[in-house]
Amino acid sequence: MSAHRRPAKLLASPKNRIDLRLTDEARFIRSWLENPLLAGAITPSGRFLARAMAQCVDPASTGPIVELGPGTGPVTQALLARGIAQERLVLVEFEPTFCHLLAQKFPHAKIVRGDAYRLADTLAGSLDAPPAAVVSSLPLLTKPEASRLALLRQAFDLMGPDGRFIQFTYGVKSPVPAHLAASQHFKTQSLAPIWLNLPPARIFIYRHADCPHAVETRPDMIDKLLRQSRRFGREIRDELQEARSRLAPKEAGSPLGEKSLIDPKSRRF
Ligand SMILES: C[S@@+](CC[C@H](N)C(=O)[O-])C[C@H]1O[C@@H](n2cnc3c(N)ncnc32)[C@H](O)[C@@H]1O
Repeated sequence: MSAHRRPAKLLASPKNRIDLRLTDEARFIRSWLENPLLAGAITPSGRFLARAMAQCVDPASTGPIVELGPGTGPVTQALLARGIAQERLVLVEFEPTFCHLLAQKFPHAKIVRGDAYRLADTLAGSLDAPPAAVVSSLPLLTKPEASRLALLRQAFDLMGPDGRFIQFTYGVKSPVPAHLAASQHFKTQSLAPIWLNLPPARIFIYRHADCPHAVETRPDMIDKLLRQSRRFGREIRDELQEARSRLAPKEAGSPLGEKSLIDPKSRRF
């Protein structure tokens, strides 16, 4: 797909940046309504998640950075903020409306419209060097495990053993089960959950086992993180419950001397 430019002035003012964000939300919801399995989320990733994804990329690395499923571009934007030159970015997106938007927002990036699960074919002729990293927001959980593993395999065939595959998921466990990744000689690293995203998300980094920088999160560490996640969830729930009961009108001794119309037991979040 050919990239076409959008006048820089249109993107420059804070007002227009806000307008663009709002339109992005609307675009995303529409895409989700049309094809929820493709979109995989109802809104674009928040800035904390996008920034955490970008932080997994080494700006000192060389070679292209391939982004899979950039959507409206929050992670792309964070990659630029991380210091990655736009010219290094190769954005693979299936949804044509998003491709059009990305071409406007990132006129110096290469935008490839195609299926990321057929990565080798989709990127044929688009890479001038082995990519340093693949950054993926694809909703992997909507695909069979074999397809997820095949995607990882294709990505490493392109990147070589020094590359890293960065993936976020709304699930708790690695979307490519660690034992399957290990069977193909990959190590799985799990990062702490990003609570300040809706829904909270977790990032996994896959590296070739031969890579000296490969880190593996031990299974007992994953269990520990799971326990921490559950405890954190319970604490937030309790805090909310307490805040609600503080805000709710007192049943006895309320100014009206009446029972609250809201039954606290019926309130859910
Ligand atoms: C969960 S959204 C993430 C969008 C964006 N990166 C973000 O973080 O807000 C998933 C994106 O992957 C795209 N996508 C899903 N399946 C795809 C595929 N097979 N090939 C390329 N893009 C795909 C969707 O169109 C959507 O833009």
